[in-house]
Amino acid sequence: MMPTFNNKTVFITGGSRGIGKAIALNFAKNGANVVINYCSNIDAAEQVVRDIESTGSKALAVKGDISSKESVQKMRDMALAVFDTIDILVNNAGINKDNSFLEMTEDEWDRVIAINLKGPFLCSQVFGRLMVDQGRGKIINISAVTGVQARLGAPNYCTSKAGLNMLTKCTAIELAPTVQVNGIGVGFIESTLVREVFSQEQLDAVNEATPLRRMGTKDEIAELVMYLASSGSNFMTGQTIALDGGKILT
Ligand SMILES: NC(=O)c1ccc[n+]([C@@H]2O[C@H](COP(=O)([O-])OP(=O)(O)OC[C@H]3O[C@@H](n4cnc5c(N)ncnc54)[C@H](OP(=O)(O)O)[C@@H]3O)[C@@H](O)[C@H]2O)c1
Repeated sequence: MMPTFNNKTVFITGGSRGIGKAIALNFAKNGANVVINYCSNIDAAEQVVRDIESTGSKALAVKGDISSKESVQKMRDMALAVFDTIDILVNNAGINKDNSFLEMTEDEWDRVIAINLKGPFLCSQVFGRLMVDQGRGKIINISAVTGVQARLGAPNYCTSKAGLNMLTKCTAIELAPTVQVNGIGVGFIESTLVREVFSQEQLDAVNEATPLRRMGTKDEIAELVMYLASSGSNFMTGQTIALDGGKILT
């Protein structure tokens, strides 16, 4: 049975597009108040707010850069001005700036590490403190299978996700027993990001090498997030679950 999140508030970084948007809409359908963070595209964020409100749930969009502590604290304050508390944090925002190792610029390295790794650190610290003080909470980190399986041309991205997997473990033991922290090792997902980075030929080869012979969908990630945010997963912490059609096994 699908869990309900009535009277719960979820904060989703990068909730204005892609996987974050699917997660936001799924929480809304299941009764949660939803705060979405975005960085630059206000039109996309406002559309998600309208989509959430059309389900009968409450929504708020907050602009901010998760790689800045001041910005994360401001977003927390904006969220708490509307909702009593934050029960669930989904660290979803992430970027790619692919380049081969020898050609990678300092900026390509720094930006990806700042958003994909420092961002979840800052958000988990700021919202984790709130959760510890309120005596409960769930944090879900959207990682990637490339956090354990290296991909050519993405040393910054793979390293950021490997770091995120360890951050999941470290925050899990630091915030226990009050807050459970888990992650999802996302594989290839039918998405704009994947279409930008890979050619159709490359994606066909990936599907061929995937036991379940296809890419995943954003909704499949959103469903697993629901489980990790629900009381059904209360005895699980520090885990990053691969959701990749079995690709990591081959
Ligand atoms: N797509 C895949 O196949 C795939 C595979 C494995 C893992 N993942 C992971 O899944 C997550 C979501 O990926 P996606 O493909 O859905 O991404 P996406 O469509 O590119 O969306 C990225 C989101 O992050 C926001 N964002 C970017 N920089 C930010 C910053 N500095 N501060 C706050 N928000 C920021 C964007 O807001 P604006 O639009 O306003 O800038 C947007 O809402 C990422 O962590 C990614 O690494 C994706």
